[in-house]
Amino acid sequence: MTVLAIETSCDETSAAVVRDREVLTNVVASQVAMHAEWGGVVPEAAARAHVEALLPVLTSALKGAPPLDAVAVTNRPGLVGALSVGVTAASAFALRHDLPLYAIHHLEGHLASVRAVAEPEWPMVALIASGGHTEIVRCDAWGDYRIVGETRDDAAGEAFDKAARLLGLGYPGGPAISRAAMSGRPRYSLPKGLSGDTVEFSFSGLKTAVLRLVENTPDLNVADAAFAVQEAIIGVLAERTLRAADREDARTVALVGGVAANARLREKLGEGSARDGRPFLVPPPDLCTDNAAMIGLAATARPHHPVRAPATTSYADLPSR
Ligand code: KG4
Ligand code: ZN
Repeated sequence: MTVLAIETSCDETSAAVVRDREVLTNVVASQVAMHAEWGGVVPEAAARAHVEALLPVLTSALKGAPPLDAVAVTNRPGLVGALSVGVTAASAFALRHDLPLYAIHHLEGHLASVRAVAEPEWPMVALIASGGHTEIVRCDAWGDYRIVGETRDDAAGEAFDKAARLLGLGYPGGPAISRAAMSGRPRYSLPKGLSGDTVEFSFSGLKTAVLRLVENTPDLNVADAAFAVQEAIIGVLAERTLRAADREDARTVALVGGVAANARLREKLGEGSARDGRPFLVPPPDLCTDNAAMIGLAATARPHHPVRAPATTSYADLPSR
């Protein structure tokens, strides 16, 4: 099955052509530079920028593409104005070419991004860590998901973004912190949030701790502070994902979402999974941050659910059977 996929849920305008598990094209136009001026995503500006970027992005993704069998689009969750741009374009394309339309949950897309590497053995325990979500999900099949642990406050990506702002490292914070941390050394210690035998997260205390560190350290070494932030966030992400994999007796451990682009986290969770004797799947970094290829990979994973009129919503639970 060959699918044209469209993703416009947040601040990347993306279109891709996916054939089964193979990504043929994946074009991403990022709005990061525009939103960086405000230090975060401005929903109204994001929707307008999607309108402007979508046609060139689609044209480029479709260049040389084989005949299409379906169209897939992210319809939930996300910024409703931004989602509407992609859903309207996908609906029009499907109507014009008489193709079935698949409405894909953004987080199901992140989960399905592992298919670019391999088809998982079930059950898979996956950490989805992005700017808006931090969840550990048990998957028993494509379309069958159960959240086994999640954040009680901020998402991991949000924690990176907020800490980076406090350290004057700019937006988006994840890549900025990981770059700065490369020359950092272990010097400062930051809290891990919740303690004990848990698979939940809490990152709001970290933000306060970074603020205190900045205020109380006159000659703060920013690289060392970035190192401490990265270790604090990544340490709990890896530890709790491995714990959940153990509890669920997982046959695959997976790492997806924008924060999965982080090299230290990839390394740490990969090593931990290997130690526990569990296969580890992580997509290449360009399939971790928001992109349309993952939406196509979710559609080709379960081709039996085309829709007529996809509704857009800012929040929706993952599908479960
Ligand atoms: O999945 P994504 O592209 O968008 C959402 O669905 O939210 O995730 C974006 C998040 C941002 O918070 C960004 O700071 C974080 O992913 N991120 C990273 C890295 N690259 C992106 N965090 C840590 N290290 C990175 N290398
Ligand atoms: Zn995302």
